Amino acid sequence: MSRSIIITGGAGFIGSHVVRLFVNKYPDYRIINLDKLTYAGNLANLKDIEDKPNYKFVKMDICDFEGIYKLMQDEKVDGIIHLAAESHVDRSIKDPFTFARTNVMGTLSLLQAAKLYWESLPEGYEGKMFYHISTDEVYGALAMNHPEGIEPPFSTRASSGKHHLAYGDEFFRETTKYNPHSPYSASKASSDLFVRAYHDTYGMPTIVTNCSNNYGPYQFPEKLIPLFINNIRQRKPLPVYGKGENVRDWLYVEDHARAIDLIFHKGRASETYNIGGFNEWKNIDLIELLIKTTDRLLGRPEGADLDLITYVTDRPGHDERYAIDSSKLQRELGWEPSLQFEEGLEKTVRWYLENQEWMDTVTSGEYLRYYREMYGER
Ligand code: NAD
Ligand code: DAU
Repeated sequence: MSRSIIITGGAGFIGSHVVRLFVNKYPDYRIINLDKLTYAGNLANLKDIEDKPNYKFVKMDICDFEGIYKLMQDEKVDGIIHLAAESHVDRSIKDPFTFARTNVMGTLSLLQAAKLYWESLPEGYEGKMFYHISTDEVYGALAMNHPEGIEPPFSTRASSGKHHLAYGDEFFRETTKYNPHSPYSASKASSDLFVRAYHDTYGMPTIVTNCSNNYGPYQFPEKLIPLFINNIRQRKPLPVYGKGENVRDWLYVEDHARAIDLIFHKGRASETYNIGGFNEWKNIDLIELLIKTTDRLLGRPEGADLDLITYVTDRPGHDERYAIDSSKLQRELGWEPSLQFEEGLEKTVRWYLENQEWMDTVTSGEYLRYYREMYGER
């Protein structure tokens, strides 16, 4: 095997796409999926690659410093792609401690294990990489100073559909000051700072990327898009927070995975790259498109389910607008989103409707029982 890489959080939404991409694209790499299998981790996400000879699953908590250190020694690990995290903002508002534990202390355990192991080798940090996956939420929120929308200064394949607007003239850049608002984004911001500190203090080769909202198959149905597709199918209310006017910048998950692959191999150590689609949507516009797309694919009259929209109390501290400027990544490494948003959304709705069994097991908690029996208590 030419490389030995730990991917943390590989049983989750984005992690499973990254693991699949690496296992299929690099048969000469050993890919170790390290995941605790929390409620969000599901090995069914990786059924198609679980028997590949270059793939191994290890059930482990990223806070288990000794376990990680030993695994790195045993597997001669030279790269870490770190996605494991508590990832849902609403949960962080109810239970911030779990977020600090996993996102901050877990990241620190990984960093320290990698430091001790790599520094013990004759070649030290040469050929090593600690790649930390972060979020645009660490930058806080952007002003919505054009609520009706303006022609955006950028355009990509993701934003090339009918809807093509920006809702402000500011964008998150790699140089934007951190200003997190939720316990989730505060914990991610803290972990990003630890990663940079390991570069600056010990010389560890590190990269941090900050990505916008992902969508696509295998996303846990607590997040907006899969939750709403499932509710539309069952004709259940769609809880829209506040006035539904918050703006998010959406990227198809496989485009994020492709960016991670490119940056892991070609990115410059110590650098930060922002990843996004230049694809801003007000929640309510996205939800209407989602309802119409789902209705059409279910054979219902388009728009028949618009009456499911139910405005509910806003999320506390709800960030108004996220919009990423990913031109550094495009300029330096030639990355571009491959899917137009309407195409990606239709592909996504189709996947959830065709994989009802996945949705049912995930929402019934059946898979959690199964993995508890297989691997013991979490
Ligand atoms: P997810 O919640 O779907 O998956 C997280 C995975 O991490 C799960 O498999 C879970 O079992 C695992 N995990 C959680 N705690 C763990 C622990 N203590 N030890 C080991 N494994 C643990 O998350 P996601 O949406 O795929 O996000 C992955 C990463 O990407 C996160 O770091 C998140 O902050 C970041 N991110 C997500 C998005 C998005 O839109 N989803 C956008 C930008 C960045
Ligand atoms: O921007 C990147 C972030 O995107 C990631 O770091 C997070 O891990 C990921 O969860 C996501 O965060 P959001 O809070 O933006 O995603 P969520 O799907 O929870 O919500 C998207 C928008 O929809 C947000 O403005 C809140 C709103 N919303 C969400 C839910 C679940 C609703 O109006 N109703 C809902 O029921």
